Amino acid sequence: MIDVVSVTSEVFPLIKTGGLADVTGALPSALAAHDVAVRTLVPGYPAVMGAMEGGTVVAEFPDFFGGTARLVAGRAGGLEIIAVDAPHLYDRPGNPYLGPDRLDWPDNWKRFAALSFAGYEVSRGVIDGYKPNIMHCHDWQSGLTPAYVAYNAPTGVKTIMTVHNIAFQGRYTWDIFNDLRLDFRAAQEGAIEYYGGIGYLKAGLYSADALTTVSPTYALEIKGPAYGMGLEGLLQARKDALVGILNGIDDRAWDPMVDPALPAHFGHNSTEQRAGNRRALAERFDLDDSPGPIFSVVSRLTWQKGLDLLVEVADQIVAAGGKLAILGAGDAEIENGLAGAAMRHPGKVGFVRAYDEGLSHLIQGGADVMLVPSRFEPCGLTQLYGLRYGCVPLVSRVGGLADTVIDANEAAVEAGVATGIVFAPVTAEALLDAVHRTIRLYEREKTWRKMQRRGMKSDVSWDLSAEKYAKLYGRLLGVRESDDDDH
Ligand code: ADP
Ligand code: GLC
Repeated sequence: MIDVVSVTSEVFPLIKTGGLADVTGALPSALAAHDVAVRTLVPGYPAVMGAMEGGTVVAEFPDFFGGTARLVAGRAGGLEIIAVDAPHLYDRPGNPYLGPDRLDWPDNWKRFAALSFAGYEVSRGVIDGYKPNIMHCHDWQSGLTPAYVAYNAPTGVKTIMTVHNIAFQGRYTWDIFNDLRLDFRAAQEGAIEYYGGIGYLKAGLYSADALTTVSPTYALEIKGPAYGMGLEGLLQARKDALVGILNGIDDRAWDPMVDPALPAHFGHNSTEQRAGNRRALAERFDLDDSPGPIFSVVSRLTWQKGLDLLVEVADQIVAAGGKLAILGAGDAEIENGLAGAAMRHPGKVGFVRAYDEGLSHLIQGGADVMLVPSRFEPCGLTQLYGLRYGCVPLVSRVGGLADTVIDANEAAVEAGVATGIVFAPVTAEALLDAVHRTIRLYEREKTWRKMQRRGMKSDVSWDLSAEKYAKLYGRLLGVRESDDDDH
C-alpha cells in the first residue's frame, strides 16, 4: 500500500471553482484500485469544516502564520480529509480565492504558504501514526510544499508537482520571504526566485521529485515559449522529470444512466431518450423548437476559454441555423457580449450567468454540441463530459482537447473513428468554419448518431490514468515494476 497526501486548494464535492476540484475529488477512489491510499489535505474553509463527519484533531499549531491552527482528520464528501483548520486564514465563505469584491484575498500568499507548510508538517509525521510516502501537490497553492520538504531535514517522503494550469503561478515580492519560514538556501539556490520575485509554482517545479501535467500535449506545449508562460526554461531543464497524464472523469458523478440532474436517462443504445433532456434544456434557456443543433457552453468566461470569439460569431451562428445555450460566469466583457447576443436573438440564444452544477449536467445530457474554443487547455473536462453524455464536442486543437477528441474530417468519418469537431487556429474565422462544418454533419443524421455513440463509448474513465499515477508513485519509491508493464 502506498500512502499519498494530495495537497490541494479545492476538491469536489466540498469546494470547487473548476476542473482541479473534479480531478482531486475523483483520483482518490480511482487510485484505491491500485493499492494507493489517498488523504486530501485541504484548507478548512467553512464548506469543508461543515462537511466533516466526526473529525478528530490530529495536530495543533499555536503559532501558525499569524494565528492558531489545528489539523482535523475525518471523512467528508466520501473522501479521507485532513483539513487545515486555521480560522484566521480560511474561515471565509464563498470562493476560495476571492473576497466579496471579486478580487484575490490580499493575504493569499500567506493562506497558501500555510497550506503548503501544513503539507510539510504532515510529510514529516506530525500526525501520530501516519507517515505518508508521497506528497502529491496540485497547482501553485501547494507549490511551496516540495520546497519546504527539500530545504528542511530529510523526511523520506517523495514529492510530485502537478500543473493543472500554468497561467496561475502564485507570484509575490520578496518582502514576504521572512514570513514563509523557508530555509534561506531555497532563496540562495534559486528554488523560489522567479523573475525578480518569488514564484510558488516555480518553487514546486524546481523542488519536486517528479512533475506532471494533465495531458501529453500540454506537457509538450509548456516546454515552449508559446504556452510556458515564463516557466518553459525550467521545464526544459527538467524535461526528464515531466510527464503528461490525461485526466479522466468520475463516472459515478457523471453517468447518464442514473444522473439525478437529468429528467431522462440514457446510454449509448438509447440516445433517443436525450430528447427529454433537450426539451427541458430548451425550456430553461428559452430556446424555440426550430430544427438546428443546440451549441452549448459550460465554462469560466475568460480569455483562456476563447469565449470572446464566441461573442464575435454568435450572430453568424444563429444566421447559420444554430442555437446557443450558455452557462458561465467570469469576465464582464464576455458576460456582457453574451447577454447582448441573447437579447438580440430571443428563442435562439440563451445565457445563464451563474455557476450551477445541476444545470451543467442538464446541458451535457440535452444539448447537441459542447463548444470548447480554448486558446490553451491543459486538459479540459467539459469535452470529456460531453463525450460521455452524447453532447458532441467542438474543440480547438490545443492541450488536452487535442488529445481527447478525434476530428470528423471525411477520412475519419469514413474510417469510423471521429468523435467530434476539432479546429485550428484559435480565431473567430476558424471557429465559425467549424460551426458550419458541425451543422452540415448534424444534418447527416446517421453519421451524427454514429459519431455521438462512438464518443459515448470512448474511454474517458480514470482507469488508465490512475494506473499511470500509481506507477509513477511506485517508480519514485523504487518499487520494481513487473515485466509486462508497457510504458
Ligand atoms: P477549468 O478547470 O479550466 O475551468 P475544466 O474543463 O477542466 O476547466 O473544468 C471545469 C469544471 O467546472 C467542469 O466540471 C465544468 O462542468 C465546471 N464548470 C465551469 N463553469 C461552470 C458553471 N458556470 N456552472 C457549473 N459548472 C461549471
Ligand atoms: C485546470 C485546466 C483544465 C484542467 C483542470 C483539471 O483548471 O484549466 O484544462 O482540465 O485544471 O486538471
